[in-house]
Amino acid sequence: MLKGKKYFIKTYGCQMNENDSEKIAGLLKEAGGIVAGNIDDADMIIFNTCCVRENAELKLDGHLGRIKALATGKPGLTIAVGGCLVQQPGAAERLLQKHRHIDLVFGTYRINGIVQLIEKAMSDKAAVCDVSEQPYPSFDKELAGSTLAGFDKSLRKERFKAWVTIMQGCDNCCSYCIVPYVRGRERSRTPGDILRQLRSLAAEGCREITLLGQNVNSYGKNPEITFGEDQPDAGIRNFADLLRAAGKISGISRIRFMTSHPKDLSRDLISAIKDTPAVCRHLHLPVQSGSNRILGEMNRKYTREHYMELVSEIRRTIPGIALTTDIITGYPGETDEDFEQTLDLVRKVRFDSAYTFIYSPRKGTPAAEKPQLAEKDALKKRFAALKELQDKISREINDSYKGTMQSVLVEGPSSTDPGKFTGRTETGKTVNFKGKDLRAGDFADVKITGTLTWHLEGSVPDDAGQAGEAGDVRT
Ligand code: SAH
Ligand code: SF4
Ligand code: F3S
Repeated sequence: MLKGKKYFIKTYGCQMNENDSEKIAGLLKEAGGIVAGNIDDADMIIFNTCCVRENAELKLDGHLGRIKALATGKPGLTIAVGGCLVQQPGAAERLLQKHRHIDLVFGTYRINGIVQLIEKAMSDKAAVCDVSEQPYPSFDKELAGSTLAGFDKSLRKERFKAWVTIMQGCDNCCSYCIVPYVRGRERSRTPGDILRQLRSLAAEGCREITLLGQNVNSYGKNPEITFGEDQPDAGIRNFADLLRAAGKISGISRIRFMTSHPKDLSRDLISAIKDTPAVCRHLHLPVQSGSNRILGEMNRKYTREHYMELVSEIRRTIPGIALTTDIITGYPGETDEDFEQTLDLVRKVRFDSAYTFIYSPRKGTPAAEKPQLAEKDALKKRFAALKELQDKISREINDSYKGTMQSVLVEGPSSTDPGKFTGRTETGKTVNFKGKDLRAGDFADVKITGTLTWHLEGSVPDDAGQAGEAGDVRT
């Protein structure tokens, strides 16, 4: 039924959702679907949604409103909305009520059934809604019943790099966070399944993989809901073991992973990063706040002292490692003193970069019950101060790269700097650089000649070892 039909997927949210969308695209392609050049040309429009903060929800609402006219003028068009947002209690019904042009709502557990669900939506008169928390019966016999099956069918945009989901769900209950409610309990893919996918990615020419999970440090926990037969055979019991095994696959030169929770980051994992050459010297370690009082309220289960000690140990063990983080400002009850503690931690740790967010109340989470006492303007000021401080530090760290040689994995021509290539260092920094005869997936040795807040500039030295003309230092 999907043969020759064009699909268009719009994804919101994190890399996990991007990877889910690649899986949806892979399954639709397998059923005969083809990718649409643009939204107006599509026979099926699929929104893969996020609800981690309110603005993600508002964006979806805007998009659904805008395509209403398109839906009215094109009776054969199928509109599907899936992902985290619809997994919240009552959300699917509210959406269907508000946007009558939606044909299908599917939850985060039902992605494996996307083809069957779309076909049902095409043939049924009424909208189809399936947000059950049961995994969709898998087409893959070995992994029957697993929501995590089928990732090896993902359709990637780039040949040289891939996201690989290794676990889903979260058993932590950070008081502000909706993710555990919409992604469920932690469950891991089997090591055998993951390693098989990594080997086949390597054989296809993939050079960099990013292992994904809401909390990758918990990989392999909850064996009762970890599917498949091969886990004991592979001798891989935790994330450090998995990293070491992945590091042995020839052809895969770079391994990245996210996200790590500071409370679960083990010594063994730090050693695995150090001892496995393919694992990049970059760690994303969300701190959320620098105030012990707020960390307690957030239920993060570590203190600022523990976090800073962890950072020292990581830096002692792996010199030169890049550290990035997530920070929330304006958690209910956060005072100027609490916020000052966050600034102080940022000054002391000196992250390479930070994703900073203003707290957004999420219905159903414990924090949403607490009153927000701070004025909006005060929150905006805190956010601006944090961003200014972090930008300054990011810029200073980038400046320290000037004059160094960096191995850069080429991503292709730069979209912002015409005539240059773009790529990333092992530490995750974007470099726009001059070079010759390079293709996506090549490695280039680049001399860093200039730095900006968000990226580095450089050139591949010519045969005489001379770098091209130096880039300006500007912001
Ligand atoms: N599993 C990851 C990421 C979760 S969501 C982790 O534990 O770090 C990504 C980031 O969104 C979080 O790290 C947090 O900084 C932010 N976030 C989550 N809920 C939020 C909320 N209600 N308001 C603002 N930011 C939030
Ligand atoms: Fe959310 Fe906390 Fe789980 Fe991360 S660890 S997904 S912030 S509950
Ligand atoms: Fe958003 Fe779901 Fe990811 S809520 S951040 S898309 S896990």
